[in-house]
Amino acid sequence: MEISSIGVVGAGQMGNGIAHVCALAGYDVVMTDISADALSNAVSLIERNIARQVGRGKVTEAEMAGAMARIRTTTTLAEVGQSDLIIEAATERETVKQAIFEDLLPHIKPTTILTSNTSSISITRLASRTDRPEKFMGFHFMNPVPVMQLVELIRGIATDEETFAACKAVVDRLGKTAATAEDFPAFIVNRILMPMINEAVYTLYEGVGNVTSIDMAMKLGTNHPMGPLELADFIGLDTCLAIMNVLHDGLADTKYRPCPLLTKYVEAGWLGRKTQRGFYDYR
Ligand code: CAA
Repeated sequence: MEISSIGVVGAGQMGNGIAHVCALAGYDVVMTDISADALSNAVSLIERNIARQVGRGKVTEAEMAGAMARIRTTTTLAEVGQSDLIIEAATERETVKQAIFEDLLPHIKPTTILTSNTSSISITRLASRTDRPEKFMGFHFMNPVPVMQLVELIRGIATDEETFAACKAVVDRLGKTAATAEDFPAFIVNRILMPMINEAVYTLYEGVGNVTSIDMAMKLGTNHPMGPLELADFIGLDTCLAIMNVLHDGLADTKYRPCPLLTKYVEAGWLGRKTQRGFYDYR
């Protein structure tokens, strides 16, 4: 099945990046969010980020104009229903995602493929609540979406080959590379990345190092572009905690126990860059 239009649900940090790369690759994009402000902020951010790519000679002015013209926004979820492919990129909470798919069902075409950008939640379980588990899969981008090369594609237990092939073709057209993961908690990237971040928080909690020394050690000692605490702030501490909880609940192993300090920061509303405060102070 050929995909030409893509619906993006959620205009947050992942949703706007997904709309950005899909529009640049020539897809017609409808982005929806419950907040009109979130949508207008997302469009301004996309414009700034594509302009940055133009400034660096990676995108032409004409490609930018074309991409911006291909993005439509709406606060009415039903309006993404006519898309060939829908990528849900809402908050990393299962109840929120389930409610979105339930609300979408009456408005979608029989052929529409449903996907979730979830970073950890069971694709099989999300799919089972829809009318088309065979046309449902995980489509997981990395942050920042325009820069990161990888997309994880996750088949649920019922996902059919046609759906997988259609999603793989989209990844190819975006110029990105797909890694296929089986449907286990947090898939590949976050199964490995989040315990490392959680361990960095334990390292801080136990006083082995301070924020700067932990990040410097990992940047200079292992050539990571960001230290683990800086990266946690970048991803969002609420998202990191949600993923650790999925690993802990889903794999029932104490090695995935979220660090109490991570929980405390989230309870304080110190969620990282998006709230101007996390392990670092951005105010
Ligand atoms: N849109 C478009 N371009 C962007 C951009 C954006 N939002 N953000 C950065 N860029 C571009 C810059 O223009 C620049 O382009 P050139 O190479 O052409 O110069 C390039 O990216 C590098 O940006 P900067 O020079 O501003 O900054 P940097 O060199 O410090 O790199 C970074 C920034 C790319 C974010 C780098 O620090 C990095 O790779 N960090 C690690 C990111 C990472 O691990 N992401 C995965 C998180 S895990 C995840 O996402 C999964 C999950 O489910 C939680």
